[in-house]
Amino acid sequence: MVLCWRVSGFTVKGRKIVPPEGRGKTFPEFSSGKIGVAYQQNTSKSNKGNGMTSLKNKIVFITGATSGIGLACARQFAQQGARLLIAARREERLQELALEFHTAGIDVLSLTLDVRNQPAVQQAVDALPEEWKAIDVLVNNAGLSRGLDTIQEGKLQDWEEMIDTNVKGLLYISRAVLPGMVSRGSGQVINIGSVAGHEVYPKGNVYCATKHAVAALTTGMRLDLLGTGVRVTTIDPGMVETEFSVVRFHGDAERAAAVYRGLTALTPDDVADAAIYCATRPPHVSIAEMLLFPTAQASATQVVRG
Ligand SMILES: NC(=O)c1ccc[n+]([C@@H]2O[C@H](COP(=O)([O-])OP(=O)(O)OC[C@H]3O[C@@H](n4cnc5c(N)ncnc54)[C@H](OP(=O)(O)O)[C@@H]3O)[C@@H](O)[C@H]2O)c1
Repeated sequence: MVLCWRVSGFTVKGRKIVPPEGRGKTFPEFSSGKIGVAYQQNTSKSNKGNGMTSLKNKIVFITGATSGIGLACARQFAQQGARLLIAARREERLQELALEFHTAGIDVLSLTLDVRNQPAVQQAVDALPEEWKAIDVLVNNAGLSRGLDTIQEGKLQDWEEMIDTNVKGLLYISRAVLPGMVSRGSGQVINIGSVAGHEVYPKGNVYCATKHAVAALTTGMRLDLLGTGVRVTTIDPGMVETEFSVVRFHGDAERAAAVYRGLTALTPDDVADAAIYCATRPPHVSIAEMLLFPTAQASATQVVRG
């Protein structure tokens, strides 16, 4: 049986979605948070008999799930039988996705959330229903680049947005989620870093600085969480074709398309595949870092176009 939990009605493509009468469950504490909708089925967790970690009924919290790598992660974790906590700012896209997953028989709870808003992040995590509190995997994916300017011409607003999202947002989410993992003695954080956390490229200055910060924080987390049972991983892709470059160039789709012209970039699914690999290792194995390039790329600046 499918239990539908809801806070208030929501609309997808002009259609009002209302869960079946008598089967819904309301969570009053949700009314204070900007939470979309939750659907739940069977919740018993299990591990695979072959020593690998099963994701069946594991709760996977993915930030930035409305697009690109985050969305591909949501789809692939769902295929593994995970229960999805999906977060991003674009509410309508999130609700469409929640409905899509629900229709496919996946347990899902969507959180309309800006990771830069620390009180909202803490409130959303604190207000999770009991059945959704025990987060097993956190995918810190929400992030962006803004602009490609020399340091002397950089735009302060772009800098603030990247630092606030890629560094502070990742910290706020992690600070809210980690105490639960530590108290349960298990969990995994997968930070989506970048080749930009390994190398600095011309005009990449602040974006590269934020991804170097993610690399440092990943190491810091691993050190501080040693002995708690919580694994910490960073997956660091090179070029992935997503909305990333459209966002970087403030909506200039033509300039964004040129970034990927003449080469086969990684797909979001390639990165999600790496995340699934890391999350399904046996409990005693922790993948610390995975650097992932398209075959047509050898460093942040070296690519071959055919
Ligand atoms: N594409 C690449 O070449 C590449 C390479 C290396 C690393 N990465 C990293 O991969 C991650 C995902 O990027 P992507 O390539 O998949 O780009 P994308 O398609 O633009 O997706 C970014 C996601 O982050 C969300 N997001 C952005 N700001 C947010 C905020 N303040 N609060 C909550 N969610 C926010 C966006 O959703 P909303 O707009 O709905 O909030 C969207 O779902 C980023 O951390 C990026 O730095 C990308």
